[in-house]
Amino acid sequence: MSVPYAIFASGSGSNALSLMEEGKRLGQKPAFVLCNVADAPVMAKARASGVKVVFIESKCGASEASFEQAALDALKEHNVQWIFLAGFMKILSHNFLRQFKSNDSFDYFQVVNIHPSLLPDFPGLRGYEKAYASEKEEFGFTVHLVDEKVDHGPFLLQYILKRKNDDTEESFKKRGLRFENEYYPQVLSEILKRGHTYIAEQLNGHQIIKE
Ligand code: GRF
Repeated sequence: MSVPYAIFASGSGSNALSLMEEGKRLGQKPAFVLCNVADAPVMAKARASGVKVVFIESKCGASEASFEQAALDALKEHNVQWIFLAGFMKILSHNFLRQFKSNDSFDYFQVVNIHPSLLPDFPGLRGYEKAYASEKEEFGFTVHLVDEKVDHGPFLLQYILKRKNDDTEESFKKRGLRFENEYYPQVLSEILKRGHTYIAEQLNGHQIIKE
């Protein structure tokens, strides 16, 4: 069964590309990639992959009703059921999220995000930089369902990397992003194939992977 989904991205789009590639592999291309930043490289990546781009210009940061209404119109037109945020730098309001409420006994929004820290540590911008500066021994990323708070909501997967002696801020980001690009598509695949069964399993105890 095909599950209509969309990818939202604002930047370079390495995660968006890895999701598009996984979607193609599964024979389920995204309905579109939505981008809110005029010069974001993700749009060229989507076009090169043969994926439709919906561009709705907006500022990054706080939610905006006009942006959300335009996005909802596109999402409804394509009957989108799931949204995957991949470096999308804009907050989505409760009014927007509630349009994607799941139909099952667990109450969640069918919107997924990837954040470059081991949440609840370091929400907000520059997760890898903050983890590096903290001198914590472990860092990584979190894939989670989105709720009304920023970088918050039930975890689906956390990937934990160990700090190495010769690590730098740059190497944190590079290593982290490589595994983001490998594991975010696995979450996409689980959701497209197993939907609520997969979500329910993770809500009982999310997947933790160590380097
Ligand atoms: C990634 O680190 C992601 O976790 C965060 O923003 C970055 C986006 O990178 N939300 P890219 O645009 O997917 O390359």
